[in-house]
Amino acid sequence: MKLNTLQIKTHTDSRGCLSIIENNKDIPFDIKRIYYIYGVSQKNIVRGAHAHKNLQQLIISIAGSFDIIVDNGINRTTCALQKPMQALHISPMTWCELTNFSTDAVCLVLASEHYDINDYIRDYDEFLKITKAHH
Ligand code: TYD
Repeated sequence: MKLNTLQIKTHTDSRGCLSIIENNKDIPFDIKRIYYIYGVSQKNIVRGAHAHKNLQQLIISIAGSFDIIVDNGINRTTCALQKPMQALHISPMTWCELTNFSTDAVCLVLASEHYDINDYIRDYDEFLKITKAHH
């Protein structure tokens, strides 16, 4: 499946780098929520492992590195995030698993909606059933 990666506008000079995301300008949705995952102490830990019915997200590795397995119900691919100026856009109805975190990794997520427990699909078979019905 095709990954939707974005390059974040970045100013780099001898003092270091500054990356910028402006709401509604640099990304294709309104940011309603920000959360970040860090302190993942083992490579084999899997975070995520769910899909969302409506939520769009932009995922950035602002420190360290991790992998995202992205699955649209037909095929899956792995995206390695390891640069703070690289972002991955996740559309609704995409199954994601985050793994292989370096111990210093900080995974920043910009989300299009407030937290809504009813927006989650946590059962992979249910996810497949819903995506198959759409294809
Ligand atoms: P969880 O969904 O298990 O994280 P991950 O997707 O990385 O596996 O979320 C961990 C806890 O945090 C869980 O109790 C739900 C809660 N949570 C919120 O309260 N608000 C949020 O915006 C998010 C993302 C999680």
